[in-house]
Amino acid sequence: RTEVVTIPVVVHVVHRTEEENISTEQIESQIRVLNQDYRKTNPDAEKIPAVWRDIAADTLIEFKLADTDPSGAPTSGVVRVRTSRERFGDDDAVKFTDKGGSDAWPADRYLNIWVCNLQPWLGYAQFPGGAPETDGVVVTYTAFGVGGTAKAPFDLGRTTTHEVGHWLNLRHIWGDDDTACYGDDFVSDTPNQGGPNFGEPTFPTVSCGNAPNGDMFMNFMDYTDDRAMYMFTKGQAERMDACLAEARSSFLD
Ligand code: ARG
Ligand code: ZN
Ligand code: CA
Repeated sequence: RTEVVTIPVVVHVVHRTEEENISTEQIESQIRVLNQDYRKTNPDAEKIPAVWRDIAADTLIEFKLADTDPSGAPTSGVVRVRTSRERFGDDDAVKFTDKGGSDAWPADRYLNIWVCNLQPWLGYAQFPGGAPETDGVVVTYTAFGVGGTAKAPFDLGRTTTHEVGHWLNLRHIWGDDDTACYGDDFVSDTPNQGGPNFGEPTFPTVSCGNAPNGDMFMNFMDYTDDRAMYMFTKGQAERMDACLAEARSSFLD
């Protein structure tokens, strides 16, 4: 694919408190971060180690708040819903109006993002191929966007970048085998890596015989802090592209 694909986004702000009812500005900051991270225009891309600069990818995917709702009427792309629930878990209740959440918009035309008081996770995503009613990503209000209620070290919008990676079929870079070395992310240009990295590691961090360059801990699909992750690879971009060509092909036109 050589043309940019633009994904219309609806953000459901499911809130009980005024704090949880995050500002439009904070939502817009998240869309900006997504566009920078997926187009490799994030300012911290300059920190990518020289050995990986050539495989860092512009995925040619962009995001914009939806301007038309499912019935064809103009919209801001933001749905604000009041709830009586103090917190949500990963049981998808936030995705249903009758469970205190907000119903999904048609998953073949919109990326649904629910922002709520999610505990204890930062976010979770549904991989392609699942039920349309629950399709999309959920992000907690303290790890969404930049500024406002976003709290360090998850205050640069990278949780959503990571979750949307899952939504586009990316696996964790260490292959989800805890710290063992057999797990695969099904991407050939990411180094085999033992387990997740946390915080802000220093380069190189070696595991599974991947010296001299070590783990690609600055990949968006690792578990490092927001300021420590700043790249996708070309192999990951190809995998997302394959997802857009097949399971999510409704977004291509
Ligand atoms: N724990 C979450 C997941 O597995 C996301 C972690 C996001 N990390 C971050 N630095 N924002 O989907
Ligand atoms: Zn993840
Ligand atoms: Ca790999």
